[in-house]
Amino acid sequence: MNDKLKNTLLTAIHEGAKILRHYFEGSFEIKSKDTLNNLVTEVDKKAEEAIINIIQGEFPSHFILSEEVGELSTESNYKWIIDPIDGTVNFAHGIPICCISIGLELEGKMIMGAVFNPFMNELFFAEKGKGAFLNNKPIHVSNSHQIESACLVTGFPYKWATIDTDPIKVFEKFIRMGLPVRRLGSAAIDLCWVAAGRFDGFWEYNLNPWDIAAGYLIIEEAGGKITNFKGESYSVYDKETLATNGKIHDEILKVIS
Ligand code: IPD
Ligand code: CA
Ligand code: CA
Repeated sequence: MNDKLKNTLLTAIHEGAKILRHYFEGSFEIKSKDTLNNLVTEVDKKAEEAIINIIQGEFPSHFILSEEVGELSTESNYKWIIDPIDGTVNFAHGIPICCISIGLELEGKMIMGAVFNPFMNELFFAEKGKGAFLNNKPIHVSNSHQIESACLVTGFPYKWATIDTDPIKVFEKFIRMGLPVRRLGSAAIDLCWVAAGRFDGFWEYNLNPWDIAAGYLIIEEAGGKITNFKGESYSVYDKETLATNGKIHDEILKVIS
């Protein structure tokens, strides 16, 4: 069963990637969703349709949660959580930091996930208990034990009028500490780059399950740690995400909480 799930996951992500590549730097329709720069393009929708067709072709009864269409066939214990383009703003501006993210949950636990950036040709993959991989080579989180030598990444919600902790203030604290903090614009890539040891930690408020589902498992399988902003155990449905190499987790928590 797991081989068939894996093949389906990888076929779907590669089919979606063909669509992203076809339209990248070309012209396509772009619309705003709830706020000015929360965008959806016709490419998000075309890639999503191709991905869902492949999954449903193999597993017609499986639950699907996908960013643009929402929930489909909600009865199954298997749930595919799909972001057809994570980093749509980047995609819309021709910035090659964007990806497709597909996670697979069984009875509420993530069992498989893949994140593919077709413009850097980087495919991150993890299966529960079997490690995390970048283009088939095992990856691990970094070994930095001290926050002073960490390189961090974060993201900002499209709007945050209702958030208690101002994300700019948290960002400012790290910058005043003299730490490098990047903002790539794709939460799924941020998580995978922590898993690969490029970054030592990532935090963001108000992500959605499709941003995190695959990256969550990839982080865990690469030896990292992921919690909410209180350091408590985490689910992809939570609104606070802190993912680190595990060694600097508590120090980062002190700054953001
Ligand atoms: C967004 C990206 C971004 C993050 C936003 C997400 P989208 O996803 O992951 O990095 O800061 O919160 O909504 O809209 O490009 O799929
Ligand atoms: Ca997203
Ligand atoms: Ca998206």
